[in-house]
Amino acid sequence: MNNTIIVTGGAGFIGANFVLAWVKQGLGTVVNLDKLTYAGNLENLVEIQHNPHHVFVHGDIGDRTLLDKLLSEHRPCAVVNFAAESHVDRSIHGPEDFIQTNVVGTFHLLEAVRAYWGGLSHENRQNFRFLHVSTDEVYGSLGKTDAAFTESHTYAPNSPYSASKAASDHLVRAYHHTYGLPTLTTNCSNNYGPHHFPEKLIPLVIHNALAGLPLPIYGTGQQIRDWLYVEDHCAAIRRVLEAGKVGDVYNVGGWNEKPNIEVVKTLCRMLDIKKPRADGKSYVDQITFVEDRLGHDQRYAIDATKIASQLGWKPKETFESGIEKTVNWYLEHQEWVANVTSGDYRHWVAKHYAERGEELA
Ligand code: NAD
Ligand code: TYD
Repeated sequence: MNNTIIVTGGAGFIGANFVLAWVKQGLGTVVNLDKLTYAGNLENLVEIQHNPHHVFVHGDIGDRTLLDKLLSEHRPCAVVNFAAESHVDRSIHGPEDFIQTNVVGTFHLLEAVRAYWGGLSHENRQNFRFLHVSTDEVYGSLGKTDAAFTESHTYAPNSPYSASKAASDHLVRAYHHTYGLPTLTTNCSNNYGPHHFPEKLIPLVIHNALAGLPLPIYGTGQQIRDWLYVEDHCAAIRRVLEAGKVGDVYNVGGWNEKPNIEVVKTLCRMLDIKKPRADGKSYVDQITFVEDRLGHDQRYAIDATKIASQLGWKPKETFESGIEKTVNWYLEHQEWVANVTSGDYRHWVAKHYAERGEELA
């Protein structure tokens, strides 16, 4: 065993930010296993494509033969599991891929890791970690005045996505409880930042605003999400890997609850300054209210007291500083946006938003 880690899903939004930071900070070699679904993109990793400390492997976390081979070849000291189907709307349209990757895939990964871990020396077994990256959505929806989610909040997932993540969290918990596998789980709130695929609210709004398209708000836009800048999430994961108590769960959040409509208006005002519309009007004029998401969760909010008090992690970015960095990144990376919004992406937005009475492609 050496200081190599295996990261799954490291070509997606959060995984790529995590891998880039890990390699650039010289923390060791990353073996990056990714299936390259529509959400995975090697362009996210272009900065480290020739770096000897980044080994990309195209494959599925459900492929036991490949997992056994990677584990025995690379002898990692940790596995960090980001790989997942992650978009709630897609899970409503077609839940099967979510069950396959998030539940069955995580199960195969846990089985492979358990076999590898069981064969390590006593000392290496003690030092090994399996970190599972999960979401606040497993806790369900909060009322306006409810206290934020703590780690002991009841699981009450409402979408096929959150149900599949909840199932995977339970498997991770069981592998620790039953087999003693040294697991860690993080449940994080909504992330935003560079490399975010423009099917999710923030990058979708930036992309549509600049393309002169409607900015679709589901329902009333009063649903609340708790936003965290992606690099802060990656720092939290590094801290949990380093100092988290084996078997424990850590909630990660930005203390940044915002109604969707406020987030969208903030983006519009920022773009009005940085990239004004040719006709001098505000991007706010492009806001359109569309049919609501089925089973739409009203509010998520994370109580991040445990990770702050026990591990000393807190976010560096405020919502204001993080959103400015994000908008700047998108303005500077229009080619990236153009590349990821071709092909399959057009098919998805055309179908999904047509059902809500809006033409987006
Ligand atoms: P993403 O959809 O951008 O990326 C997922 C990555 O996983 C892609 O690169 C994809 O190709 C890969 N992948 C999918 N199925 C795979 C499989 N079977 N085998 C190997 N690779 C596979 O997702 P994200 O937003 O980066 O989220 C990463 C993780 O963080 C997920 O587990 C998600 O549940 C969790 N999470 C996300 C958020 C958020 O706001 N985005 C918040 C909290 C937790
Ligand atoms: P999203 O980015 O899909 O993340 P999640 O559903 O995991 O929280 O959506 C964030 C919020 O924005 C959510 O309340 C749904 C809403 N939303 C819209 O109003 N319009 C859109 O086009 C999208 C994609 C999301």
